[in-house]
Amino acid sequence: VLQLVGFMGDAYSPEAFVAASVERVILHQARWEGDNDGHIWGGARIVEVTANRCILDFVVMDHGGVVMELYGFCFAQLKPQPPDSALYSARWVERAHVGKALAASAFPVRVMQLPGCCRLDNVVLEAVGATHEVFSLALDNNMGGHHYNSAKSFVVVPLLHVGSSHGSMFLESVLELVQSLLKQDLSKHHHMFVVTSGAEGPSEIESTVWGIDHRLAVSAVWGLLRSARLEVPVARLAITCIDTDAKDELLAQQLLQEIGAVGCSDAAYEVAYRRGTRFVRKLTPSVEHVIGSVCIGKDVLRVDRPPPRAPGAALITGGLGGLGLVTAEALVELGVERVVLVSRSGTVKYGGQGLEERLRKLQQASGAIVAVERCDVGDEVSVVALLQRVRKEHSGIGVVVHAAGVIADKALVEQNAESVHCVFGPKATGAWLLHQHTLVDGLRCFVMFSSVSSLLGQPGQANYSAANAFLDALAQWRQSQALPGLSIQWPAVTGVGMAAAMDERVKIDARHSVDTRVVKLVLKQLLSLETTEASVHAVQAVVPRSVIADSQLSGRVFLPEFLSDIQVAPTRRSVTSSTKSVTSPGKPGRGLQRREVSEMVEATVRSLLGTNAADAIDAQAPLMDMGLDSMASAELAITLSNQFAVQLPSTVVFDFPTVADLSEHVHSELVARSDGGGAHSPKTNWQPGLLRREVSEM
Ligand SMILES: NC(=O)c1ccc[n+]([C@@H]2O[C@H](COP(=O)([O-])OP(=O)(O)OC[C@H]3O[C@@H](n4cnc5c(N)ncnc54)[C@H](OP(=O)(O)O)[C@@H]3O)[C@@H](O)[C@H]2O)c1
Repeated sequence: VLQLVGFMGDAYSPEAFVAASVERVILHQARWEGDNDGHIWGGARIVEVTANRCILDFVVMDHGGVVMELYGFCFAQLKPQPPDSALYSARWVERAHVGKALAASAFPVRVMQLPGCCRLDNVVLEAVGATHEVFSLALDNNMGGHHYNSAKSFVVVPLLHVGSSHGSMFLESVLELVQSLLKQDLSKHHHMFVVTSGAEGPSEIESTVWGIDHRLAVSAVWGLLRSARLEVPVARLAITCIDTDAKDELLAQQLLQEIGAVGCSDAAYEVAYRRGTRFVRKLTPSVEHVIGSVCIGKDVLRVDRPPPRAPGAALITGGLGGLGLVTAEALVELGVERVVLVSRSGTVKYGGQGLEERLRKLQQASGAIVAVERCDVGDEVSVVALLQRVRKEHSGIGVVVHAAGVIADKALVEQNAESVHCVFGPKATGAWLLHQHTLVDGLRCFVMFSSVSSLLGQPGQANYSAANAFLDALAQWRQSQALPGLSIQWPAVTGVGMAAAMDERVKIDARHSVDTRVVKLVLKQLLSLETTEASVHAVQAVVPRSVIADSQLSGRVFLPEFLSDIQVAPTRRSVTSSTKSVTSPGKPGRGLQRREVSEMVEATVRSLLGTNAADAIDAQAPLMDMGLDSMASAELAITLSNQFAVQLPSTVVFDFPTVADLSEHVHSELVARSDGGGAHSPKTNWQPGLLRREVSEM
């Protein structure tokens, strides 16, 4: 049996995906040696056509006779199957509020008052205070008090006063605040509602002119809170960026309706108001950025574009790390002639990942000039000196890729100024210094390596999410100033780099990772676009399908609104050993009741779909509609054949499209065998020479 993965007719109409399988193919040697202009012809016989599938037999001929016979070519349309990983970006979309506003005096609302609170903090206080009993809280208050046991109350944290620091100081104070709330166990009884202004939200609609410092600091806080929300889901943490242009009355109404929605199952956890309109954050496929690419099997992107030619060198910070070296390779393959790899140590980051070999090939066999520089990018004096050296020695700087970074994972309550600073320094401060000191260079490309941990949050990575969110905000800011700016949110990468170097115990699920081949494809695609006229959304996320599918299944707390527009079929998991086999030598599957067969078929389907045991599977629903693709169908046929020791063709899902049909069929096969008939062999239309004879007659 030749199992085809499927095919599609047109890159722009994904519904053209079809699953196909072939029962038998016979290839003959071509016998015609004359000039036939390469023409072949043939005939097809329709064996069966139903609403769901079509089976054909084919014969293909040249002038000398039959070249190929193909029997039982069966195909059926599939729901479009997204690629293993693709590009997404989080965008803000208008979404009216559907829930009720918080009823007056429904339960206590505590508004936190931070030192140095500003006019806006008071606006929030007054807005909520107009209808509610408000308890002002300060960091060192005993926040429990007699309302501690209240079944439900809200802590509103207005973070509107950022000061002038764009660095980690504001972040540290917010961290301290969140920790102090958590330590006092407030989170278990109260929902937390953080209010910010002027940073997150649709960038094309500015509320007030907020400075870059304010935006970066607030965005970093949002990054931190995304991880905090996952670490302490019970706190029901929601964030809103308020419309500071709105009148106090309207502001109160907006706040109360959001506060009222926290804790509801369909609540949006990230909301922004702009000019009276409510926006929620949504993950959206970056379809327009897959220009000129094809999508076949695991190849996400393929670029057929001319390489970008930027004068001057490409500077890669973190260039001697895993992703830094892969980036250097991608740039050289795109035609960049001079690359400068920067790190503090001046040596490759890890042994055992083949990084030395990659560096050697780049330096000796790529044809490009590949230099190594030492510099701590978190240190301004060193950065300025580095940039001067590179400009002088390489006739300028054309491209900056900021890939320097470290991780220092810790539970939120254990994070401190040191763990924040350690991650923030190379990433956020480094990005800021590179941004500031290359404004004179007229760069064609300014790319920063962020992480999906900024997009989705990641338990244990509050500091890292914050630093990456800072990069994302900087890319947006640069674009708003007509400067090149792109932040790529990578998932875990296998093979090289920091995720690959992680301890076995904390290693990330391989299904949630991409390999270096995908990294290169994405880089080539995005770098080509960034250096051409085509505009790229400032923040691009590379998201493996499994991340989305698993998030949808597990109902992670940020999900209700965020992923609702994305249709992702559950990813297949290999059938686990818990899917028991009934085959035992001599007595395979004998005596199994209909119900037992049905349960086992269902268990196998679940396992392939990656569905939780708690979720019901509709036995009458078509398996393909549940997300079973052609590969999974073949795997299902093989697994069930082994389990029950019956022979099932790979087209079994077309023949028996539901769990009920399939179970019935397996059961009847088992009954037939125990009656002495032996296992049925799959029906086949194949008869040697039949089709050839028919075509000859025609
Ligand atoms: N690998 C992944 O799975 C993954 C996933 C998402 C995002 N990312 C991001 O992608 C970037 C590259 O990751 P990677 O896996 O390639 O990391 P890596 O292999 O650990 O390399 C990091 C590089 O950064 C350098 N570096 C660290 N601090 C520096 C500083 N202050 N100044 C200059 N250089 C510094 C390191 O060299 P020295 O120690 O010698 O300075 C090293 O060369 C990081 O920003 C990371 O956050 C990676």
